[in-house]
Amino acid sequence: MNLLEVRNLEVVYNDVVLVLKGLSLKVPEGGITALLGANGAGKSTTLKAISGLLAGENGKVTSGELVYAGETVGRGSPEKLVRKGVFQVMEGRRIFEDLGVEENLRCGAYTRPRKEFAPNLEKVYDYFPRLKERRTQLAGYLSGGEQQMLAIGRAMMARPRLLLLDEPSLGLAPLLVEEIFEIVKRFNREEGVTVLLVEQNARMALSIADYGYIMENGRIVMDGPGPELLNNADVQEFYLGISNGGEKRSYRDVKHYRRRKRWLG
Ligand SMILES: Nc1ncnc2c1ncn2[C@@H]1O[C@H](COP(=O)(O)OP(=O)(O)O)[C@@H](O)[C@H]1O
Ligand SMILES: [Mg+2]
Repeated sequence: MNLLEVRNLEVVYNDVVLVLKGLSLKVPEGGITALLGANGAGKSTTLKAISGLLAGENGKVTSGELVYAGETVGRGSPEKLVRKGVFQVMEGRRIFEDLGVEENLRCGAYTRPRKEFAPNLEKVYDYFPRLKERRTQLAGYLSGGEQQMLAIGRAMMARPRLLLLDEPSLGLAPLLVEEIFEIVKRFNREEGVTVLLVEQNARMALSIADYGYIMENGRIVMDGPGPELLNNADVQEFYLGISNGGEKRSYRDVKHYRRRKRWLG
């Protein structure tokens, strides 16, 4: 079953700039789905459209449909969606720097019954022992990697059904990214949480994703099972930096070029 379906989504900023141009994707329940693409492709916009956070940025869904758990969403408040189990971890680790680690985690739990707090906290500390060690410290003093852990831990406290992660690897060393992705995978396996993972780091994301979508310029240009995309020659050339040199072209350019060549040849 698909927990989320995005159908022909169009999003416009400031009433003029068309950023998503008919984007469609499916997120099966219980899996990890990756949404990949270069900077500016529209990945964060897609997540914000799903979680209802577009309005705060003067963005609007002008066409298309979002179906979550069999129900059309997109008009309700973000808080309503959180109560329905959709939780987004924003790009850039937006934690509360002036609050302690444990207070930040408490903020994630505001939609949950009180009696859940202690066991959920224990669970988060089990996933992130480093947060337990630093639980009384101010979040602002954590390292970048620990802040990302805290942002994800805070999302775990909300007990999401669909976890939206926006570039958790941004600015972190590869080993740390691997550690965090392993934890996300464990969380997915053990708690059955569905994950939609947005990344520029295609290799890392595809290493844990069941299925991946690649987007360019507001549209999906390619999709397939994670391991298949990892081994795909075009993906290797354009998104994993394994190329034979030459200028940087986008996947769409090449697709068009090939189509033209087929035509002429
Ligand atoms: N609040 C906004 N107002 C106007 N344009 C925006 C806004 N947010 C993003 N954009 C534009 O939308 C495009 C896609 O941005 P974004 O979704 O952030 O891409 P990505 O997350 O893939 O880097 C970019 O061209 C960006 O400049
Ligand atoms: Mg982004």
